[in-house]
Amino acid sequence: RRHFLTSTSAAILTAGVLSQTSVRRAFAQRQTPQSRLAMPPLLDTRATGRLVLRATPGSTAFNGGASTPTAGYNQAYLGPTVVMQNGDLAAEVQNGLDEAITTHWHGLLVPGEHDGGPQQAIEPGAAWNPDLTIAQDPATVWYHTHMHGRIPEQVYFGLAGVIHLTDGQDDARGLPSTYGMDDLTLVLQDRRFDSSGRMIYDPSMMDIMHGFAGNRMLINGQAGATAVVPHGIVRLRLLNGSNARNYTLFMDDARPMHLVATDGGFLPAPVALDVLRLSPGERAEVLVDFSSGGAPVMMSDPGQAYGVLQFATDSTLSARITRLPDQLDGAPEDLSGTEAVTRQVSLDMGMGGMMMGGGGFAINGRPFDMRRIDFEVALGSVERWQIRSTMVAHPFHVHGVRFRVLTENGGPPRPENTGWKDTVLVPGEAEILARFDKPANREMPFMFHCHILEHENAGMMGQFTVA
Ligand code: C2O
Ligand code: CU
Ligand code: CU
Repeated sequence: RRHFLTSTSAAILTAGVLSQTSVRRAFAQRQTPQSRLAMPPLLDTRATGRLVLRATPGSTAFNGGASTPTAGYNQAYLGPTVVMQNGDLAAEVQNGLDEAITTHWHGLLVPGEHDGGPQQAIEPGAAWNPDLTIAQDPATVWYHTHMHGRIPEQVYFGLAGVIHLTDGQDDARGLPSTYGMDDLTLVLQDRRFDSSGRMIYDPSMMDIMHGFAGNRMLINGQAGATAVVPHGIVRLRLLNGSNARNYTLFMDDARPMHLVATDGGFLPAPVALDVLRLSPGERAEVLVDFSSGGAPVMMSDPGQAYGVLQFATDSTLSARITRLPDQLDGAPEDLSGTEAVTRQVSLDMGMGGMMMGGGGFAINGRPFDMRRIDFEVALGSVERWQIRSTMVAHPFHVHGVRFRVLTENGGPPRPENTGWKDTVLVPGEAEILARFDKPANREMPFMFHCHILEHENAGMMGQFTVA
């Protein structure tokens, strides 16, 4: 019940790279200087207060295979890591592709009109200019297209990137912050490759039912690369940028990952984890201690482990941080008892949804309809949403808020879900609490949806206003 992978999609992955030993061997053969993992380029908006992203067509030869037509922001695949701070940011997204896109700031708390949802299409050759006012806690968030009908393909072929929202206080927190050195941004994506090495997206009905799974891991768009780190504490900012795959991450030598931040910001103190679950759309920041060296592999899925990322340590790199911070300044607010309204959100497929089209993908039995507002939320109010998903684990995301997870299957939330969240995997039931502080009107409402992109696109999405 914790896992939505079918034997079919698991088998696809098995055919690609599997079993701990074969993964280690495969990685070992690639430990050459050329295969050192690269970070996406940095785009720092702090000095200018301006951000220009241009969706661009490209062509990418992944892992030395045949080249694949791809798309990215300002580059051929994926986009730059955008550094932002609180305050005003004049953003411009230009569309250099031959199809309409949108650009959603997943995790930025901005009004509906700046949110970049499906209503805010940017036609080919056009530009969109949201004037963002950012006022929230530091966090690792991201941006991606949200074009309804095309989102699975458009994200898959590259229209996504990471945002570091920073307050410049990481030194005071004792956190590593040297980009690409002791502060790594890791976009985890599984992608399907054919025998010529071309990346393909050819979903069958089963792939839409279960979400499209790949047969290779890409990290920041690179296959088989090694992350080289100093002998010290290293911060990993993990984004699950896959269309559908959940990861249950662990280090193969059992060294712990110390969780310091969730989707919406820092925790009060690091939490040592042996395994970290990350579903599509979620982010986690962890600290890993490499001071004793070693060459561990980050793996996923203890039951049928496969390799996600090979690490190597290099003592010539300077280790700026050598001990874990005891405390952080994250203080996720306890919203319990302040809710004005309780809503039910069922992600189960109903006959209603099936009969109305959309293959049964719906929320509360109603498939997504861009003209229908599902909930009207009062601005400034706190609501409790009871999310139910009894057949399949769906990663549930809400725009325009950060939320707390009150309960999971009647008990306290897992450690990964104790901080501020905007996406939570729901295998069964979860209750969340959110204060709705950003307005959204009927023309440009906020979305709530499953972040398995095939499910979202097939109708597992709804919309709400905040006024
Ligand atoms: Cu990451 Cu509605 O999306
Ligand atoms: Cu979002
Ligand atoms: Cu789903």
